[in-house]
Amino acid sequence: MKVFLTGGAGFIGSAIARKLLSQGEEVIIHDAFLSYIDPLESNYEKLLKLRLGDITADGKARIIRGDIRHKGRLLKILREHNPDAVIHLAALPISTVSNVFSEDAMGINLNGTVNVLEAVREVPSVKRFIFASSSMVYGDFTREPAEEDDPKNPIDVYGGTKLSGEILTKVFARQYGITYTIIRPSAVYGPTDVNRRVTQIFVENAFRGKPLVLHNGGLSKLDFTYVEDEADGFILALKSKKAENETFNITRGEGRTLKDMAEIIKKHIPETKIEYKEAPRDEKRPERGALSVAKAKTLLGYNPKFSLEEGMAAYIAFVKKSGIL
Ligand SMILES: NC(=O)c1ccc[n+]([C@@H]2O[C@H](COP(=O)([O-])OP(=O)(O)OC[C@H]3O[C@@H](n4cnc5c(N)ncnc54)[C@H](O)[C@@H]3O)[C@@H](O)[C@H]2O)c1
Repeated sequence: MKVFLTGGAGFIGSAIARKLLSQGEEVIIHDAFLSYIDPLESNYEKLLKLRLGDITADGKARIIRGDIRHKGRLLKILREHNPDAVIHLAALPISTVSNVFSEDAMGINLNGTVNVLEAVREVPSVKRFIFASSSMVYGDFTREPAEEDDPKNPIDVYGGTKLSGEILTKVFARQYGITYTIIRPSAVYGPTDVNRRVTQIFVENAFRGKPLVLHNGGLSKLDFTYVEDEADGFILALKSKKAENETFNITRGEGRTLKDMAEIIKKHIPETKIEYKEAPRDEKRPERGALSVAKAKTLLGYNPKFSLEEGMAAYIAFVKKSGIL
């Protein structure tokens, strides 16, 4: 199988690419190498090398620099390669940044997604389009665990663009017969993330002797998902006929508090300081928690392997060994 990954040089995309290569599949990575983190705070280049080194060694995966906002070039590249499947991950993937840089979020997550769909429509070799959506499409969960058909009321620009991407994926499927799968990840963490999500910030702060700051008692819950499990879920969906024209939550399937996560870090790095503060008033985050993975388990045989304790142990070991700090 020849698989084309938009955003394939990213955190999740590179993990999917590595697994596909180990399964003997052909991988083409299309990526604009964009970073939205302040360069003074980011380890982007170091982590990118760690992330892509083994994937690109000996010409294993082909990397093409390109931007999904450039429709003509994207179509040309897709026509040159005629892949069997497209996994579309390229995005401005950080909700807080999407609210500030909403034009970029719209340009990439929404218009960029339409460009990818239009290109896929023109390339008949593509038998499956996989859209990386997000648990942020639900907004505040109406129950726990959240199921795929639960109400979708996103509360930020990012969630709005992801829900729009889902709707447009289905529009293209109905209009042009594109076969799709929509995947909703949540709070993915693990080696080489550079987007300064909460797990990365907490682990790096702990190593640097800076406090881990918990708001409102650290009782907000997230469905923390180890990146290897996330990548397994995407590939199971890619290879399963039962995933055709379906939507799946692909997460650990458990809601854990930020306090749980901070305390796990403290077990590994005992000198870690945890501070409790009031939440800043300027930012509203959705009330979330566990997502149901029952559908993915039943239809795809998805079986996430990493508890938060196991995943954090693996991530902390990576940070220690990598020498990135
Ligand atoms: N990491 C998570 O917790 C999480 C949760 C839910 C959904 N997602 C979704 O999964 C996908 C992958 O996320 P990630 O964590 O790997 O993020 P990431 O930032 O590590 O990867 C995204 C990649 O897309 C590339 N990209 C951005 N804009 C582009 C453009 N215009 N053209 C081509 N490439 C472009 C970036 O260079 C980057 O390599 C995203 O769509 C994200 O919204 C991630």
